[in-house]
Amino acid sequence: MPEGRTLFERTLQGVRGKHAPVWIMRQAGRYLPEYRALREKVDFLTATKTPELAAEITLQPMKRFDLDAAILFSDIMTPLEPMGLAMDFAPGPVIEDPVRSPKQAEALRPLDPEEGTPFVLDAIRAVRSELPEDRALIAFAGAPFTLFCYMVQGSGSKDFMEARSFLRYETDVADRLLSLLGTSMARYLTAQAEAGADALMLFDSWVGLLDEGTYRRHVLPVVKEIVARVQADSGKPVIYFPNGGSNLLHAASEVHADAWGVDWTLPLSQATERLGPSAVVQGNLDPSVLFASREELGTGIDSVLSEGLAAKSHIFNLGHGIHRTTDPDQVAFLIDRVHASSERLYASELSGVDQ
Ligand code: CP3
Repeated sequence: MPEGRTLFERTLQGVRGKHAPVWIMRQAGRYLPEYRALREKVDFLTATKTPELAAEITLQPMKRFDLDAAILFSDIMTPLEPMGLAMDFAPGPVIEDPVRSPKQAEALRPLDPEEGTPFVLDAIRAVRSELPEDRALIAFAGAPFTLFCYMVQGSGSKDFMEARSFLRYETDVADRLLSLLGTSMARYLTAQAEAGADALMLFDSWVGLLDEGTYRRHVLPVVKEIVARVQADSGKPVIYFPNGGSNLLHAASEVHADAWGVDWTLPLSQATERLGPSAVVQGNLDPSVLFASREELGTGIDSVLSEGLAAKSHIFNLGHGIHRTTDPDQVAFLIDRVHASSERLYASELSGVDQ
């Protein structure tokens, strides 16, 4: 594989650079006044479907902060509409007609990204033409189980009971649905890579609701297939994020991802024990630490960085999305602190000086 163009991509290849790269889940979003100003004029769905607006929002945090990677402004639900599911956002996704019967499941169409989501591919082209060469662009998709949760439940939920029970009483239909989502999301990610995304992330936000046996039987094979297919077809790295899945990390290590996202409940050294020492990890500061004093925030950041030394290499991020009431100045502080602290930490590791 040729050496990555950006520090972010080289870190994904397992090479620790001068400092840790950093980006933040939901970095293009409501904690930014410039995002809120734009959203006063246009609703969320329209913003995601208008390439110029999606590109502008994607670039908002890149203009304000020294972030190493941009993530496309879009949503994991976006490709489900062309597959046959009408939806709205309030502010989370709401599906008009949740999938509760075999007939509804069978009526869903596989995704053709060029035909169904051309605005996403255009937004990627627009961002890539404006983003500096040394910054990476991440595109993403929802993982099949997480999309299945919303499709069947119809909206957000604490336990997605409708979706989890559908998996039990309509097992074959559920497996076919997961498989349809798998092939569709593999195509979607590959199309986004071809449009210019440098790396791809698969969000499995709700997989932590599953026990390991169920995960291995119904979910893991589809995730493995997506990651392998996208890596082979696009040649670009894939990050897999099994949110809430610290109990599943050992199983998830069988997904040959280029990196694994880790939520904040498990120190990165323990995550690495479960994923194996050759794993690249991304994470995992608790988003609530951004509400602590600068001193506490700094200590929290340094602790995540030193935990990250256990892995092959480390991309700094929060353990989940940034909260909408976060002060952007705290984010600026975080990014500078990650860069400065990791530079010192990595230099002393190389020279063998104890920290
Ligand atoms: O900056 C970025 O991270 C890129 C854009 C992005 C959004 N959603 C924008 C968004 C990404 C990567 C997502 C992924 C996403 N969407 C996930 C996976 C990540 C996770 O959180 O686990 C999930 C589960 C969704 C579904 C979804 N979309 C929810 C639950 C919500 C409500 C969120 C909330 O905080 O209220 C959305 C809406 C959404 N997606 C917003 C944004 C900026 C808020 C919309 C608004 O402006 O009102």
